[in-house]
Amino acid sequence: MKGLTRRLFLLAFPVLLLGIVFAPNPKLLLGDFVGRHVQIARNLAGIFFFFMVLTPETAHPQLAALQHVVQGMRAHTESLDSVSALDRAIDLVDDFGWNHGFLINVGDVKGKILDSAVQHRLDNGPGELKLAVELGTFVGYGTLRLVRMLNHTGAEIITVDPDIFAYTVSSSLYEQAQVRSRITMKTNYSYNVFAELKKQGRKIDFLFVDHVKKLYLPDLKLAVASGVLAKGCVVVGDNIRSPGAPDYKKYLLEGDGSKLFSTEVHRTHVEYWRLFPDEMTVSTYLG
Ligand SMILES: C[S@@+](CC[C@H](N)C(=O)[O-])C[C@H]1O[C@@H](n2cnc3c(N)ncnc32)[C@H](O)[C@@H]1O
Ligand SMILES: *[C@@H]1O[C@H](CO)[C@@H](O)[C@H](O)[C@H]1NC(C)=O
Ligand SMILES: *[C@@H]1O[C@H](CO)[C@@H](O)[C@H](O)[C@H]1NC(C)=O
Repeated sequence: MKGLTRRLFLLAFPVLLLGIVFAPNPKLLLGDFVGRHVQIARNLAGIFFFFMVLTPETAHPQLAALQHVVQGMRAHTESLDSVSALDRAIDLVDDFGWNHGFLINVGDVKGKILDSAVQHRLDNGPGELKLAVELGTFVGYGTLRLVRMLNHTGAEIITVDPDIFAYTVSSSLYEQAQVRSRITMKTNYSYNVFAELKKQGRKIDFLFVDHVKKLYLPDLKLAVASGVLAKGCVVVGDNIRSPGAPDYKKYLLEGDGSKLFSTEVHRTHVEYWRLFPDEMTVSTYLG
């Protein structure tokens, strides 16, 4: 009997400890007074751990990139005019991607293909470029490139990302680049934004598809079916080869999409990583 009590006690101790560490509400388990102190101890341990050991920047490369931008902008003692602030913010993200870490934004090499696709739409019409949409915001780098190409026009730039972390990081990046007010952010899913545009009777003149690779094709078909693509809309797809959107590419080049779009494939490499080949598609919606 004595042995059993001892064993039960030995078992109860770690269970209680687990309860103290993991209980969602320690006050329920231990009463108000002790529970409150467990809460304080737990939060202090958390603050210590996340600030001193696992810093936010080590846990999230997006935050490390943002920190690099914030520090790099500050390093400039002379005040930046808005054009150089935007250029500098873009360069700092690229510097981070090449020299300090790795990111999954479009990057400077593929970014130039994106820029030329915007320029192509601006030069060849039809009509004004009134609405540009980016699917997948992440740190907001692609959006900055769109702003750089489109700021002087009246185009609205909408960027879409359901992730609240992307919202947080990209708003700060836009602020650093001094272009926050030029961008419409949608913390929502691509298909919901299409539905909203359809309801408003608006059409997209430039579409940058850079979100979940499996959604490229369904979302492109949805955009066509909902009538939110303007005739002449230029649609750029990133990461067509790595990680790859083979069904999307096939649809555009050989499938039904080849009758609706005229498509060029650009061979390039993965952002900030020359070893791995990648492709971008630039498609024009024939309407
Ligand atoms: C490759 S990143 C975008 C990079 C960005 N376009 C750039 O070049 O700077 C992909 C992003 O797509 C977002 N995403 C996931 N599902 C989405 C959806 N249904 N609609 C829009 N964005 C989505 C993810 O949260 C992620 O941040
Ligand atoms: C964007 O356009 C506004 C209004 O014309 C101008 O004040 C601002 O300097 C421009 N910013 C950039 C980065 O081109
Ligand atoms: C997402 O879009 C849908 C459809 O347009 C809308 O009903 C919903 O309120 C949006 N959610 C957010 C968080 O904006």
